[in-house]
Amino acid sequence: MSGDTSPFALDLAELHGSLGDPLMEVMNFLNEVTSRHPGAISFGPGRPHEGQFEVERIGAYLDAYTRYLTEEAGHTPDEVRTLLFQYGRTNGQIHELVARTLRNDEDIRADPESVVVTVGCQEGMFITLRALFAEPTDVLLVPSPCYIGITGAARLLDIETVPVPEGEDGVDPVALRETVAALRAAGKRPRALYAIPDFANPTGTRMSVPARRRLLEFADEADLLLLEDNPYSFFTRADARVPTLKALDTRRRVVYLGSFAKTCFPGARVGYVVADQEVRLPGGERTLLADQLSKVKSMVTVNTSALSQAAIGGMLLTHGCRLREVNKAAADHYGQNLSVLLDSFERLLPPSRREAAGISWNVPEGGFFLTLTLPVPADNELLETSARDHGVIWTPMTYFYPDGGGLHQMRLSLSYLTPGEVAEGAERLTELLQRSCL
Ligand SMILES: Cc1ncc(COP(=O)(O)O)c(C=O)c1O
Repeated sequence: MSGDTSPFALDLAELHGSLGDPLMEVMNFLNEVTSRHPGAISFGPGRPHEGQFEVERIGAYLDAYTRYLTEEAGHTPDEVRTLLFQYGRTNGQIHELVARTLRNDEDIRADPESVVVTVGCQEGMFITLRALFAEPTDVLLVPSPCYIGITGAARLLDIETVPVPEGEDGVDPVALRETVAALRAAGKRPRALYAIPDFANPTGTRMSVPARRRLLEFADEADLLLLEDNPYSFFTRADARVPTLKALDTRRRVVYLGSFAKTCFPGARVGYVVADQEVRLPGGERTLLADQLSKVKSMVTVNTSALSQAAIGGMLLTHGCRLREVNKAAADHYGQNLSVLLDSFERLLPPSRREAAGISWNVPEGGFFLTLTLPVPADNELLETSARDHGVIWTPMTYFYPDGGGLHQMRLSLSYLTPGEVAEGAERLTELLQRSCL
């Protein structure tokens, strides 16, 4: 801040506690490092690659959606005008198209009435947490390390999060069982577990099918809901498709959080929640959880922008409500970047060299992220040295550990770079390692 100070000032200590939490500063901090080192190669942002974006297409998508409203949905021109220009249905107007796409791409059978179209997945997390968490003793279980969007939303809502360590096959089932038992013994209610089964942010791990089935069984046994977040499953180097938790869920234990940020484009800010759980009303009738989320959403964003929904709806229609195929080129790009990074590391840091130094990395099958482990702290100080002296930026993994940890790890995000930049970035990272720990 610059200039004269005002005679009146608010105390940070008197604002909501989350605002003093370092967690809330991560994005700004990383943006600030990036803006100070504009020439650096950044393995920081989880942004999608822009190679497939074409400005002219936005107009074409809007046209496709408008045609659908008249020709397929049977609306009059006046109704179309209202749908595009007015405030709209709280839970959205493209819910039917989203349901169709989910059936085609993921074999998820969702009643369109159970789909809430949200302002990004982020709003979906926020309204879901608000609706599900009633008492101060209700606890959200999160993997450790964990995506900060969910821990941040929980923090804003004063919801307690309890970390469960993540292994190579998702959250550790033994630790999960023990944590649930310990929380119950302490008078708390573990309400839900947040999970990213496909190429998690930040680690890149993917759960096997048996691990998914075990988790669903445990959720049922322990009366837990599973909040499945799935932005990355299309982006795989492996051919075999793995069913989502929601596709395997026969008991409606899974609330599915979807995002079009990576599979369409993030500028639209459109995501959705499939909330098909039944809710008993005091009189005995039942509604859907989606109807309850609607009450929360109406007080947060009123409705998701009609224009954004029209652009995404038009994109879905243009591709026959099948996004997996249209994302093949993007998936190939991310897969190529992952292969370039892994090959570069293998060449620059052969086993004898890295093992002696205590350097390692995981080998994800897809997604945007990979974890590099070092013998020295991968902290803000090393990041500063890395950006300033070696022209390469990454994210310290500590930010993703709700309970501390990850001090020796960095998250490398591959999505936004070209293969050439990834190769150059790997060289620069190796120079940094050469200086600090080889
Ligand atoms: C795991 C995860 N969930 C959700 C999101 C954000 O989704 P949206 O842009 O739709 O809010 C991201 C974005 O990075 C993410 O990594």
